Amino acid sequence: MNLLTFGTITGTAVGALYPIVKYFLPPSSGNAGGGITAKDELGNDVQASEFLAAHSAGDRALVQGLKGDPTYLVVTESGSLGDYGINSVCTHLGCVVPWNGGENKFICPCHGSQYDATGKVVRGPAPLSLALAHAEQTEDGKVVLSPWTETDFRTGAAPWWS
Ligand code: FES
Repeated sequence: MNLLTFGTITGTAVGALYPIVKYFLPPSSGNAGGGITAKDELGNDVQASEFLAAHSAGDRALVQGLKGDPTYLVVTESGSLGDYGINSVCTHLGCVVPWNGGENKFICPCHGSQYDATGKVVRGPAPLSLALAHAEQTEDGKVVLSPWTETDFRTGAAPWWS
């Protein structure tokens, strides 16, 4: 009977403390800083090794990113995963901007805005550069995108999207 009472009290105490303890623990690497695992067109987690095997150096390729926004992952010139993703939603009126590898820039089909390979606006009418997200590979090989709240490295300005 004593053992049963001890188990009940302990179980209740642990259950009550769990949300409090969890609140103070840092997020796991799979969900770093409010991040999410990038998804492919079928809704599967993007594996960095498979992604890099399917794309060549300098490519930009779409995945489903933060808030479900289509986001470009970057393949660097050395063939590794870039440490940032580029939101593909045009800052003019919201069209999805395709990557043009031949021109080495993003060119919006709606009204002709252009962005360089980092997503920095180089021709209007778009008023702002494409939004950024952090991109990183987790220990289990998945690609995680997380909010970019720091200075925009392309402009030296505060990020307009956060
Ligand atoms: S929506 Fe892209 S240029 Fe207008």
